[in-house]
Amino acid sequence: MKLTVIGTGYVGLVSGVCFTLNGNHVICVDKDEEKIKKLSQMESPIYEPGIEALIEMNLREGRLSFSSDLHESVRRSDIVILAVGTPSLPGGEADLRYIEGAATEIAQAMEGYKIIMTKSTVPVGTNEKIRKIIASHTNHPFDIVSAPEFLREGSAIQDTLHPDRIVIGLDNPELEPAMRQLHQGFTENVFVTDIRSAEMIKYASNAFLATKISFINEIANICEKVGADVTKVAEGMGMDRRIGSTFLQAGIGYGGSCFPKDTNALIQIAGNVDYEFKLLKSVVEVNKDQRFMIISKLHESLGNLRGAVIGIWGLAFKPNTDDVREAPAREIVESLVAEGATVKLYDPIAVENFRQQYDHPQLRWCGLPEEAAEGSDAVCLLTDWSVFKDIDLHKLAESMRRQVLIDGRNVYSKEQIEGTGFEYHSVGRPQMGGLSGYSPSVAGAI
Ligand code: UDX
Repeated sequence: MKLTVIGTGYVGLVSGVCFTLNGNHVICVDKDEEKIKKLSQMESPIYEPGIEALIEMNLREGRLSFSSDLHESVRRSDIVILAVGTPSLPGGEADLRYIEGAATEIAQAMEGYKIIMTKSTVPVGTNEKIRKIIASHTNHPFDIVSAPEFLREGSAIQDTLHPDRIVIGLDNPELEPAMRQLHQGFTENVFVTDIRSAEMIKYASNAFLATKISFINEIANICEKVGADVTKVAEGMGMDRRIGSTFLQAGIGYGGSCFPKDTNALIQIAGNVDYEFKLLKSVVEVNKDQRFMIISKLHESLGNLRGAVIGIWGLAFKPNTDDVREAPAREIVESLVAEGATVKLYDPIAVENFRQQYDHPQLRWCGLPEEAAEGSDAVCLLTDWSVFKDIDLHKLAESMRRQVLIDGRNVYSKEQIEGTGFEYHSVGRPQMGGLSGYSPSVAGAI
């Protein structure tokens, strides 16, 4: 089949590239001509392991092309995939301006029947709006399909090629064979439903995963007070298949371009129909607070932070990405600066992105994790990049002014910490050491 994908962000670019792998011809379209020029030279605008090799291979083999000419691309395609951004408006609602603009342009370009498929995350009812917009600008026939995307940054290609399920929302059952053919080879688990339910599945899934994370983070906070180990608790819970073992890693909370945006949007969607989504509001609240656990642990160890030197390891919202959108690091670093600390920052690849969002005279940019630690009073690990796991902690401790290590992602084991001289804090593992550890009197009271 011939496809046009509109939008070359994570979802658009990865989907576009992956759809070439099962025999389709794909044109990826973006308004940003600079981006299109770079992509045509095999340079990816996003950091995603493996993407550039796939772009190169498919460009060479003629299955993939890039264009800023939406009209021509739509005319040449059977299916047009909407993968433009739906950022948050100040109140949390999804901003649909790019969706609406693209729908209008698609309609203006149409010269015959098209399938319009939405991959962007859009509130329930948006595909109906898209239908109305297109119908008001063209007399050509078309069908609408909702096909929400569940890929994760850092493993986006694998997630797209081998997803747990593909969700297809449609109202014309005749489209089902074409949709199955389009996703052929990805998975047998194709769940076909109505459009509104498909739109809701995406929000409900992200909200549920965010809920698991906030839940385990609160359990971790309680574990610290009662002397239990949250990693063991999560392991034991996860063995129950009804619960599942994933997304139960305690830490400093979730960030990224999806969970924060989509949880707020779902709260709004519910609010618009006079329903208060109390549980999800709490999930968001818990997540906001969790990152400041780093600051309170620093206070416990160092007291006042004025004049302190703090090393920060990890700025991206998770490993294997340079994405700093809604990363917990931002607020943590801002708080440290506000308290008068000098902050030495290191991330394997996200430094530039972070610096563009936030810079300050109290910040020092470092090219190595050891450099961020040298002469510091504490090191805070905020992103679980694998490089941190293999650092020589004995040497590191010697290079620091005070030996405090705050592990916001539970990266280190007891064996790795023992004998290093570090005062070590992690999340929900009081036996691992640290001042906020197990207190028998508190446990006794409970
Ligand atoms: C997420 C969804 O997983 C994906 O299905 C959707 O399409 C987009 O949003 P992504 O934002 O790329 O993907 O990252 P993900 O790996 O899900 O992690 C999100 C955040 O949760 C990260 O900040 C991560 O550190 C945090 N997290 C994840 C935890 O704190 N604990 C966990 O157990 C899992």
